[in-house]
Amino acid sequence: MPLATYQFPQGFLWGSATAAHQVEGGNTNNNWHFWENQPGRIANGDKSGLACDWWGGRWQEDLRNAAEGGQNAHRFSIEWSRVQPGPDRWDDHALDYYRQMIKGMRKLGLQPVVTLHHFSDPLWIYEMGGWENEKTVGFFEKFVRKVVKALKDEVSIWVTFNEPNGLVVNSYIDGCFPPGKQDFKAAFTALENLIRAHAAAYHAIHALQPDGLAAYALYYRGFFPKRAWFIPDVLVTEVLTRNFNDLFARAIQHGRVAMLLNKSYVQQAVGTQDYIALQYYSADMVSFNPLRPMQLFSSREYPRDIELSETGFIANIPQGMVQALHWARHFRLPIYITENGVEDSQDTMRPSYLLDHLRQVRRALSHGCDIRGYFHWSQVDNFEWERGWSQRFGLWGLEVDTQRRVRRPSADLYAAICRENGISRRAVKRWAPHMIEKLFPD
Ligand code: GAL
Repeated sequence: MPLATYQFPQGFLWGSATAAHQVEGGNTNNNWHFWENQPGRIANGDKSGLACDWWGGRWQEDLRNAAEGGQNAHRFSIEWSRVQPGPDRWDDHALDYYRQMIKGMRKLGLQPVVTLHHFSDPLWIYEMGGWENEKTVGFFEKFVRKVVKALKDEVSIWVTFNEPNGLVVNSYIDGCFPPGKQDFKAAFTALENLIRAHAAAYHAIHALQPDGLAAYALYYRGFFPKRAWFIPDVLVTEVLTRNFNDLFARAIQHGRVAMLLNKSYVQQAVGTQDYIALQYYSADMVSFNPLRPMQLFSSREYPRDIELSETGFIANIPQGMVQALHWARHFRLPIYITENGVEDSQDTMRPSYLLDHLRQVRRALSHGCDIRGYFHWSQVDNFEWERGWSQRFGLWGLEVDTQRRVRRPSADLYAAICRENGISRRAVKRWAPHMIEKLFPD
């Protein structure tokens, strides 16, 4: 009999993910506000502005849409600069508002997953040197304690840092995030401090909530040698893997902080993850290039003839998800896919991207991989960092000027998957008929 459904395990978390600065609006006291106001930093000079107006209450509409779309969880983040607007100032009203939001999620049947740091820093932290200053570690720990104390009766899954490996590269090597540096030494210092801050946050969470689950969220980039027979391509692929995907994992396994020739040791980081939070979007073919020292002597490109997203930012390479899950299962911990998605305002690629990736997730499950949840990026279009509003990742579209939400067909496809806890022939036939042959060959 042909397969009728790719069934997922009972209790699987189906959700979407958002981040404070990208959806709240009105975050004027952080480093991203400063960055958005510098000429040339953001595509088209875009600003986050009102974003999706969550701080004005529109989280209710988006989360209602999520819940009506069959989702049972939501991952979002707390904006540090709201809770701690100055080194000695705490804003309890902001924390109360987050509490209200979480209660709202629970009412809608959405289990909250809370990220404590998603790229943005308070301006006062930025002004004292951000992650290059080791004092930031202590400040972050205090902030984490404050938040966990306030929310621990409502939240049990925490993400300490969102993509700290991506943050280091974007902020200190590529320079597209604040402070816009291209400096390996600064990158290493920031990495060390981020690892220390993650460890401190992990221990603080466990001291306050022994049964809580905490992890950092990894930006996993798929890397494949362009010419598998050419040793320099293979070696440089390995160098990228070690200096990007493995940065935090190594510290958590052995306490070793290593990036290129820099090395140090952070003992308190050992063992500081209760699950793997895995984020995967796309993968590169890597080749050796002696002319690109800042890129670790590599060139990266997407394979030819591959399906590309609207601005060419993401290629549909589900094989990279396979690689990511293979990497993740070695840690013998439960895995949550805390982000995966594609920018696509016309919703022509999202259905196949979604199905292709979920099919690999299902496959990994049947090979014994302990995956507990999937969070799509994102519920609604939001402010995409240095790419501003030029990319649309939402299951729902957003008309930025009017704040009107527009449902995309993928929202219906994802809803069917969430409700049925699996990918059914019926849903694919209805919402992505072009994928039926691929998923359900007779
Ligand atoms: C991730 C990031 C998200 C979102 C997404 C899509 O790297 O964590 O905040 O921007 O990429 O660009």
